[in-house]
Amino acid sequence: MSSSNNVLISGKHITKVFGYGNHKTTAVNDVSFDLHEGEIVSIVGESGSGKTTLAKMIMGLLKETSGTIEYKGKPRQLRNHAARKKYWKDIQAIFQDPFSSFNLFYKVEKLLMDCIKLQGLKLPREEQVQKMKDACSFVNLKYEELFNKYPFELSGGQMQRLMIARIFMLHPKVLIADEPTSMVDACSRSTILDMLMKLRQENNMTIIFITHDVGLSYYVSDTIYIMEKGKIVESGIAEEVILNPQHKYTKQLIEDVPKIHSEWNLA
Ligand SMILES: Nc1ncnc2c1ncn2[C@@H]1O[C@H](COP(=O)(O)OP(=O)(O)OP(=O)(O)O)[C@@H](O)[C@H]1O
Ligand SMILES: [Mg+2]
Repeated sequence: MSSSNNVLISGKHITKVFGYGNHKTTAVNDVSFDLHEGEIVSIVGESGSGKTTLAKMIMGLLKETSGTIEYKGKPRQLRNHAARKKYWKDIQAIFQDPFSSFNLFYKVEKLLMDCIKLQGLKLPREEQVQKMKDACSFVNLKYEELFNKYPFELSGGQMQRLMIARIFMLHPKVLIADEPTSMVDACSRSTILDMLMKLRQENNMTIIFITHDVGLSYYVSDTIYIMEKGKIVESGIAEEVILNPQHKYTKQLIEDVPKIHSEWNLA
């Protein structure tokens, strides 16, 4: 995982400052990282540590105050609509609040159909419907029951699964999953995690998994970055970071999850 020739996204000294004067917040402070093809990286930190801000900069939804983000070895180009469309074909995100990610006036059918259109596929109607059905069944949803519904008619868990169905259809190279399990119960949480793992297995998808839960990060990722107040304070192979933490903040996060081994049956 750590060879430098398959680095897909690399962040170099990225900083994001919100506000000005006496009201400045440095949400992300001089963060650097390398994301390799097929790797699952977790970014772990408590609320307000800058995780979502970092994710939005990687997505190109927020502009970094300083630093650079490179994609496939070149500074990422997002200057015009065509460049953004090309980037977003490769890099997709699932955000904390699924309801904010969808156009609430579009029915499920249109939300899924847009994925087919985004890929520039021209298919007969039956094949389009089949693709939408396949995507729904991948996430254990029934297309027939949902296609005519609006997002606000779905539960939080159904919405999150619908977002994963869209990822299944779009199969981006990189998925940023920002607390994708925040709105669901423990049972749906493990189903969602399993789906993400399956996506990675089938499509060699690279995943940035954002969570405040250090136990989850251990369960899902190859590499962990620990973020405290905008800074990466520790990073490395998941097992090493969790089983032999060096930084006091990491130690504290782990202490807050007393039974990490028994909880996940990993011992
Ligand atoms: N648009 C904004 N304007 C001003 N400050 C912001 C903005 N977005 C985030 N911040 C601030 O930046 C800091 C980091 O916020 P961010 O949402 O990145 O944290 P987070 O790690 O994702 O937290 P959580 O776990 O609660 O989602 C916080 O202090 C927040 O108040
Ligand atoms: Mg967040």
